[in-house]
Amino acid sequence: MLSKCLFPVAGYGTRFLPATKAMPKEMLPLVNKPLVQYAVEEAIEAGLTEIGFVTGRGKRAIEDHFDTNFELEHQIAGTGKERYLDCVRKVIDEASFSYTRQGEMRGLGDAILQGQRLVGDEAFGVVLADDLCLSTELGVLGQMVQLFRQFRCTIVAVEEMPQDQIHKFGVIAGNEIRSDLYQVTNMIEKPTVAEAPSNLAIIGRYILTPDIFELLRETPQGKDGELQLTDALLAQAQRGCVLAYKFKGQRFDCGSVDGFVAATNHVYQNLYLRS
Ligand code: G1P
Repeated sequence: MLSKCLFPVAGYGTRFLPATKAMPKEMLPLVNKPLVQYAVEEAIEAGLTEIGFVTGRGKRAIEDHFDTNFELEHQIAGTGKERYLDCVRKVIDEASFSYTRQGEMRGLGDAILQGQRLVGDEAFGVVLADDLCLSTELGVLGQMVQLFRQFRCTIVAVEEMPQDQIHKFGVIAGNEIRSDLYQVTNMIEKPTVAEAPSNLAIIGRYILTPDIFELLRETPQGKDGELQLTDALLAQAQRGCVLAYKFKGQRFDCGSVDGFVAATNHVYQNLYLRS
């Protein structure tokens, strides 16, 4: 069974200050839709309709976004403006939403651990909304769900990354199973070029089996003094099986200003103008 998806959204978004001073970075819009909604739509398309947010202070706008706004809806009822809300109403109808707080910012691994109370003892997806993934066919998470049905183990999405970018990511080494799939043998969080075991960088899409929670609890602090998901994934790979999947589609790093602008232009040209 695979129906749950975690969204760690506690991060501050300092690179977008002052825009993110009073607004979650996940609510920054690509044209007319907030980043987080693209991510939730990708999860729903993949069949993961139980959405769990691991939030922090100042993230209430995300809860409000995935809820009814009676005043606004009353105001525009029966007018031509109602259709602007169609896509978010659809998301609200198709998914359920729950929230838990990450008390302290102790890294992605800690955020996932806090999410255990939302996902329980089942395999689940993880989406980092900063990474916008677009595909002309099935979305990236949907592709990974299909793989999970076949292999029944943890899967991380990877992308070939140029050398000057590699220090921003978890990087894998693996044995090629087929041209787009590797069995992971090593994994390093944010390596230098010299340390990097390959050019395959992990991007913000994961399917995790629930034994990851126990492994996270056993994982010591890693890079930058944080609990790193990458370290727990390496332990999982050494104990069993972790697959790395070179996804089909295009990824934009919306956590950086350049990536965000590129994504905005792409969405405007290819999605907004054609809708
Ligand atoms: C996190 C992970 C990293 C991964 C990246 C993908 O890093 O720790 O392994 O490659 O997300 O976006 P962050 O970008 O949160 O520092």
